[in-house]
Amino acid sequence: MRFLRPHPWLPTVLTLAVVLVTAVATTPQDLGTLGPEGQIYVGADYYPEHWPKDRWAYDAQLMQEAGFNVVRLAEFGWVLMEPEEGRFDFAWLDEAIETLAARDVKVILGTPTAVMPAWVARRYPEALAMKPDGTRVVWGGRKNNCFSNEDYRRLSAGITRAMAEHYKDHPNVIGWQTDNEFGGTDCRCDRCRARFQDWLRRKYGTLDELNRAWGTHFWGLKVQTWDEITIPDSREGEWAISNPSASLDWMRYTSWLNVDFQAEQVRIIRDLCPDHQFVTHNFMGLFQNMDYYELARDLDFVSWDNYPVFSDWAKPGISYAASFAADVMRGLKRKNFWIMEQSAGPLGWGTFSRNLRPGEIRKIAYQQLAHGADAQIWFRWRTCTAGREQYWHGLLGHDGKPGRRYQEAAQVAKEYAKLEDDLAATTVKSDVAVIYDYDSIWALRFQPGFEGNSFQGAVARYQRALFRAGVNADMVRPGADLSGYRLVLAPALHVLPDDLAAQLVAFVESGGVLLADARTGVKDETNRAHARTLPGLLTPALGIEIAEYESLGAVEYAVQGKDPLAGTFTATSYADWAAPKEADVIVGYETWPVKDFAAVTRHSHGEGHGWYVGTVMKEEAFYDRLVGALLADAGVDAVVDPPEGVEVSVRQGEGRSLLFVINHTEGTQTVSVPAGKERLLEGGTTGETLDLEAYGVAVIRL
Ligand code: GAL
Ligand code: ZN
Repeated sequence: MRFLRPHPWLPTVLTLAVVLVTAVATTPQDLGTLGPEGQIYVGADYYPEHWPKDRWAYDAQLMQEAGFNVVRLAEFGWVLMEPEEGRFDFAWLDEAIETLAARDVKVILGTPTAVMPAWVARRYPEALAMKPDGTRVVWGGRKNNCFSNEDYRRLSAGITRAMAEHYKDHPNVIGWQTDNEFGGTDCRCDRCRARFQDWLRRKYGTLDELNRAWGTHFWGLKVQTWDEITIPDSREGEWAISNPSASLDWMRYTSWLNVDFQAEQVRIIRDLCPDHQFVTHNFMGLFQNMDYYELARDLDFVSWDNYPVFSDWAKPGISYAASFAADVMRGLKRKNFWIMEQSAGPLGWGTFSRNLRPGEIRKIAYQQLAHGADAQIWFRWRTCTAGREQYWHGLLGHDGKPGRRYQEAAQVAKEYAKLEDDLAATTVKSDVAVIYDYDSIWALRFQPGFEGNSFQGAVARYQRALFRAGVNADMVRPGADLSGYRLVLAPALHVLPDDLAAQLVAFVESGGVLLADARTGVKDETNRAHARTLPGLLTPALGIEIAEYESLGAVEYAVQGKDPLAGTFTATSYADWAAPKEADVIVGYETWPVKDFAAVTRHSHGEGHGWYVGTVMKEEAFYDRLVGALLADAGVDAVVDPPEGVEVSVRQGEGRSLLFVINHTEGTQTVSVPAGKERLLEGGTTGETLDLEAYGVAVIRL
């Protein structure tokens, strides 16, 4: 019973007692998201349907020799499993699974609904999504369905049920992935519009309430019947045309529609399959078009698809974004996660990227392990010779020979197996939280306020500085319990409902350190501007008053800081004309017309402190200084002070602490570490310093 979830029925006291005794006997500790025997799953995304059957046994053998123990299968195999409506054929998949089982390779099955078979599109043309221009998507790609279409939903439930019935007792099937990367479809058909109207009716109850929430007195946009409500014109490239309140609800609704679609598959799998078959989905890290907290809610754990090489296309860089994304993924359920897909070679569709450097496959994997990944699956096993992704390279090339990339993945698998006991029930525990909010992501996309502003961009300024300071933050949902944290960052927390503001003020009162910055707290939850002087309800915690503000465009203002931010910096992009009132001015503007205003303030409130940064500082070093000051203020110390390009992270469990040190650079790095500690990968103990070669990693038991 690994992936425990509540049963629909109430167990008798006796059954409960037996379950408890068994649980104590077989699972002495909560193993997080590791396997039933505490094993860490390592493997690849595998497409047996791409290869002749006489190759399968050799693939399975190579996997076993590499130390792989899992593959994900079938997420694009709908037409092969249901060649015509209602006729199911699992013979090929059974055979593939048996071949893998013979080599002790377990299987995760994907429900195949991200690509509808041609017969679905032909028989049910309305299953294809409608584009903004009113035409339907042409069948021939993927992620092309309408999630409201009744036929599509019935067929999705049908293939899910057939798979679940067929594989529920299969000892080699360990779990399920719903669909593939939810979030890509934005259908504008009449049915989606009608469901949007229903969703709004459920949310607001009355039209008066909706008109109030959306502020439809503006431009005379009042609606008098539910069916007058249209789909806001608010997608890519046209973010600002519609009412931002309507646009925010549309984002929430499309997100809900995906979640609702997934829920049906999850229900079917949970009804039919035993508890030890988990249900997960492959998320996309920093993807912005869905409320990932909601998508994660029904699942046992989150998995994600990590392609750092996509952003470091031509030249390797420091993987800040993969670090950020991992923390977001861990934050969705406040739980460890799996890697379901990961860069394994040059990638791209038309053109492809650089190759992974020696050591880089391993380094990318360890970065995720360090942030809470409990399984490692590469995309893909072997580079395919057909279709759109012929250049999205796998561990093996087109030729299917086990080469350098395969060897490196095998090394990871073998090392991970040795780390299992130490990893059991460990996760990242942080003193620092960042509030990560989809409403603010969306609201700032409709109205960034100033050129270049985005929620993720604002968070990244602090996250990169925390990375350099050797501290991982938890990315937490608005409203999450903050009592375990010493420092809470709320940069660009644009949508700030009153109860969240009250919680942040109380956090400061009781001794926490809070940071807010430009455009925090401007909007309420309907995406209407608060009718208050900024920073609104945060004023007691921040001690400032912002009566006016401006975008800066090409203008820059010189600023001067005092201890602990002594020095000169450059304010760009935006400036709050913040009057310090009760706060201490840490950085002030030097030039007219903002000379009397503060760029950075610190205010004592209750037992804690509230910091405010009312601009975007040009110098990245400013954020290093600022984060250093915030950590000092909050009494948070990093275990290691890493040199540039080296990342550190700590996984902790009961009585155990593992320090990960990761060199993201192509040069040797020397890192000061606690001495006399056990080095788990190469054995021996640490000295005062540690030398890490290019892309080198170390795991140290503290
Ligand atoms: C992922 C997707 C995979 C594959 C991969 C490479 O986003 O889930 O199916 O397409 O990208 O393009
Ligand atoms: Zn639709």
